[in-house]
Order: sequence, then structure tokens, then C-alpha cells
Amino acid sequence: MALVITGASVLGEKTADLYVDDAGRLVDEPPAGAQTLDADGLVALPGLVDLHTHLREPGREDAETILTGSRAAAIGGYAAVLAMANTSPVTDTAEAALRVFDLGREAGLVDVQPVGAVTKGLAGAELAELGLMARSRARVRVFSDDGKCVHDARVMRRALEYVKAFGGVVSQHAQDPTLAGPTACCHEGEISGRLGLPGWPGIAEEVIVARDVMLARHTASRVHIAHVSTAGSVEMVRWAKAQGIGVTAEVTPHHLLLTTDLLEGFDPTYKVNPPLRPAEDVEALRAALLDGTIDAVATDHAPHARHDKEHAFVDAAFGMLGLETALAVVRTAVPDLGWADVARVMSANPARIAGLAGHGSLDVGTPAHVVLVDPTASVTVDRDASVSLSRNNPWHGRSLTSRVVHTVYAGRVTVRDGVLVAP
Ligand code: DOR
Repeated sequence: MALVITGASVLGEKTADLYVDDAGRLVDEPPAGAQTLDADGLVALPGLVDLHTHLREPGREDAETILTGSRAAAIGGYAAVLAMANTSPVTDTAEAALRVFDLGREAGLVDVQPVGAVTKGLAGAELAELGLMARSRARVRVFSDDGKCVHDARVMRRALEYVKAFGGVVSQHAQDPTLAGPTACCHEGEISGRLGLPGWPGIAEEVIVARDVMLARHTASRVHIAHVSTAGSVEMVRWAKAQGIGVTAEVTPHHLLLTTDLLEGFDPTYKVNPPLRPAEDVEALRAALLDGTIDAVATDHAPHARHDKEHAFVDAAFGMLGLETALAVVRTAVPDLGWADVARVMSANPARIAGLAGHGSLDVGTPAHVVLVDPTASVTVDRDASVSLSRNNPWHGRSLTSRVVHTVYAGRVTVRDGVLVAP
């Protein structure tokens, strides 16, 4: 049914009504027989796009499913998510990618776009079926072994060469496994030393970023650096961009607001890979988001069952929830980022990096993916109010600025006044 969204401040600028026709597309004339959605006082942005989501299906449906993760995405204002390949089985074939894609369509709340593994079984040795995944109906364009670094330089070079054939990109989990022990669980620094926790030094990330921008230059291909977490990585990406190298980068909401000091409480909620870093790194990440060195915010939404997370710090699973709170965390962490910039880093740029047509703008003629945000609300996060199946929420009890009020996906209201509209 046609829709009129009334009174929103479009990209935080001029106030205008938005019109959606029966086909779910934005149009420039009021459609006949439309429902209305009151957006008075709200900011309208293009539906958000997440480059980095763990949905856990297939394999760990106790932690999240494609449906429950889609619900969390809709609540967070998303219209598309890229589902990481580290499921069980791994998304390393066209069949596996199509299964994720089709389950996403069935859930019908956001576009679920599968990320293909770079290597078979994420084992780092043999390339996965990159071409078959790309040519399948799922049109996979982003490839990542996320959770693991593609450590072998020869494999990374081949992957970069291969994805050029179909305009793909390799999203790298930059972390040299030889620069940290197998039990690394936090940032290596003064605090980890004092607490006796084994850590990853920032340099383990930076050497891979440096290597991979050079491989991208050599192959004239595109590399995307997932969850950049250190000032040194930012410096490297800034340099590579200035050389015209095909590199893009993302930062997570948690790396923009949380620091390694949280380790002191030994609370595994804050155990994440890459780890929380010192305040100097957080400052550099914020600055890089503001100046465009970092292209996108991506959640790394990583749901985990209680029995995997509630352990001694060294033994607990890595990762934290992120979809429902991402926009508010970004607003809280980087208040200088204007609404048009939020739209750029949380929708337009991720859509462009992922090659997702029909996302990233509020242009007439495109599918009506719209998020409506209350810019002045302050919300205290309650982990038990989450629609995710998991509860590893680092924002529980925190007060965040701004609130996603309504989400519209392909012209259909999926969230109304903060509540999911079925399914
Ligand atoms: O914290 C993380 N969790 N980092 C990763 O790289 C993987 C992710 C997961 O799958 O849980």
C-alpha cells in the first residue's frame, strides 16, 4: 500500500513529506489512497546498511537466526545487512550463499546479503567458490574470512585478483596470527600486562593493513579493512587513499566509544576481536570517521549464547551485539557527525562498497528504505528488551543519544514507534 511519511527533516535539513507508491518506491507526487506515517520532528535517513553482521544461521540458531537477526536489524533502522560467512557450515559455496539469501527474503525485514568466505572452510589455504557465489542469484560481491585473517599473502593476492572479474571486494580481518599467541584475548598493553591477560598488540593489525594495501595496489583490486581499531591502521589507510589505492575501511560502534580500561572488571561482555583499544586509538578512529578516511560504520553484531559468553575472560567467546544500538552509539560517540554524514557512513558508503543496488539514498525512483530517528531522545539500553536471541549487550544500562522510531523497508513499515510490525 502507498505511504506518505509526513513532516520529517530529510537528512536533518529541509522538512518535507516523503511519498511511496504501491510498488514501494519513492515518488515525487502524493500517491492516492496512502496510509500516513507521522514523522513530525524526526530525521529521515536512507535505511541503514550494515557491512558486517553475524547471523549464526546455519549452525548456531540458539544464538541468532536469520529471522531474529533481521528483527534486530529492523529495530536498529537497517534495510540491508551483510551476513558474515563464519557460520557452520561456512558460506563458501554458491548453495550455502543462496540458502542465506533465501532465508533472508523469507524473513522479509531487511535485505540479507551473504558474504562469501575467501577460503574453503575459512582455513586460509584454498580459495572458496568465489566465482560461483558471485554468479549465483545471491550475487555475492563481498568476500571475507572474518573471525580469521587471510594470513597467507599469496592467497590474499589471488583472492584480490579473482574478485576483480566481477567488481568484488575482499574484506580483511587484519590480524597477523604470528604476532600474538593463540590465547590472545584483549589489547596488549599496560592493563593486560598488569592483569596477566595475553593480548594482541596493535601492530598485529597494522602489518596486515600495510601488506594488504600494497597487494591491492599491486593487483589494482579492492580491499576493505574490517573493524579498524588502531591509530596506526588509520594512518596506513589514509596514506593508501592518498596514493589512489583501492582501499575502504569500516569502524564498529564499540571501537568508537569503549576503551581497553573496561578490562579491569574482567567482564567477558567486553571481550571482542579486534579488542577494545586505548583512548588515543578511539580518538584517531573518531577523527578518521569525521574526515572520511574511514568510510563506514559496521556493527560486527556478534550474538553469543550465554553458555559461550559467561566464562572466565580468557575462555569466553569474542563479540558483542550491535544492530539495535548502532545509530545511537554513533550519535553518542561522535556528536560532530552531522545527519548527512551519518547517512553517508551508515548507508550510502556501505551500499556502494557492497555493490548493493537500491540502497543508500532517498532518491525518487529508488526503493523506499527509510529510517526515522528522534534526534533529541535519550534512551537507557535494557538488554532484556532486545529482539536478538542473545544478551551479550555491552550497552546495557547506558544512556545513548537519539532513538530509531520507525523503519520503512521497501515501502513497508517494519518498525512503528520502536515496535516491530510482524513478522
Ligand atoms: O568479536 C568478534 N566476534 N570478532 C570476530 O572477528 C568474530 C566475531 C564472531 O563471529 O563472534
